Amino acid sequence: MTTDNTQPLSGRGGSDGRRVLVIGPRRALIEHLRARGIAFSVWREHAGFALEDAERVLTAPFWNTTEKLKRTISGAFGDTRYTHVIAGAEGAVYPAALARRLLGARLSTATTALRCRDKLAMKEYLAEFDIPMTDFMAESVACSAADVFARLGAPVVRKRRKSSGGRELSFVEREQDLVLQKDRRNILERFVSAPEASIESYLNGGEIQFVNTTRYVEKRHVNFVPADFDEAVLSTMLALNRRVLKALKINWGITHLEVYLTEAGLLFGEIALRPPGGYIMNALHHAYGFDPWAAFVAMELDEPFTFPQAPRGYACVEVLHPGRGVVAAVRGEQFVRAHPATREFRLKVRPGDVIGERQGAGQDVGYLLYVGPSPQARHALLDAFRENLSITMDGTVTQTPAGA
Ligand SMILES: Nc1ncnc2c1ncn2[C@@H]1O[C@H](COP(=O)(O)OP(=O)(O)O)[C@@H](O)[C@H]1O
Ligand SMILES: [Mg+2]
Repeated sequence: MTTDNTQPLSGRGGSDGRRVLVIGPRRALIEHLRARGIAFSVWREHAGFALEDAERVLTAPFWNTTEKLKRTISGAFGDTRYTHVIAGAEGAVYPAALARRLLGARLSTATTALRCRDKLAMKEYLAEFDIPMTDFMAESVACSAADVFARLGAPVVRKRRKSSGGRELSFVEREQDLVLQKDRRNILERFVSAPEASIESYLNGGEIQFVNTTRYVEKRHVNFVPADFDEAVLSTMLALNRRVLKALKINWGITHLEVYLTEAGLLFGEIALRPPGGYIMNALHHAYGFDPWAAFVAMELDEPFTFPQAPRGYACVEVLHPGRGVVAAVRGEQFVRAHPATREFRLKVRPGDVIGERQGAGQDVGYLLYVGPSPQARHALLDAFRENLSITMDGTVTQTPAGA
């Protein structure tokens, strides 16, 4: 654990009396605080981008016990009053709820944070409110692999109760491959074969201030913002979103709720109480023409924010990852850069680079964001970019979206 910039802090923070603690920093969030001249400190898990203008920087894990979290918060930040604590990442949500209480900041409910962090607690709680979801059980209460398969069918989905980005998730096909662990860390689920989508909500005062739907065109690779489902699907998505937010009593912040669109209807997947990943925030900016990070900070700081009423374009974001191997060639970079629909493009690899396996959705070798004037135009753009941009790996061609 290291603490930098440990000068004693005094006074009332920045010029407007605000002093913010960011747990799990995101670059764009920090840039926005900076631009506004808001005094801030940071608790991050790993060293990352430069933070020399932060009042304090703590680099330490987000411990898995409440006691240890509390000790760390009091030890590193307890001598100062913070007006607001903002969680930027999944693992920061519960530490932030504790920190708010310990540091005298704007309060949130710790049980809500826990329910948004722990997939088992989340599902057990929401099932009480009749939110439709796939059957699930705690791995620790299962009697035998045979019982699990009899109840959930094959494959059994096994994942960490506390995780994100598809890390440590597996589909177990056969009974003999399910060796039950009693460490209470996993949830088991019935497999759902269906397209997926998400709903992003900005809330304050217990009310939804702005809502967007995202279609996962290709899971973990291609997202449409806003989604292009028909009105009936959209309205059931929004109704489910409202019910979940209400059940969880979420007062303020951003939520990212995932759903499965099965033929029999909508199923709740999970909810996160933090900004979405997958460059959805960037896509919101280009699709609607507002600063999604400024809006997030406004919700956290309990300030008014004027949201747009409707999208002004149809964004597609492609997250690039061609799978593990050696990059042989990249084709189409000039096409992408010169295309008038392109809004953001980043490619971090060149021929000869070695790419490791993608463990979480947060790992990529770049991304591409473009906007069309209509949902139809966006589809045509997806085809055009697929055809023209490719990353060739060791003799195989991986078209974007890579790794499909
Ligand atoms: N029960 C399930 N049936 C089918 N696919 C699943 C199931 N659970 C998870 N997945 C797949 O794995 C992805 C990640 O799982 P999720 O529950 O969202 O956890 P996280 O995003 O926190 O890793 C989902 O978006 C989905 O594609
Ligand atoms: Mg998820």
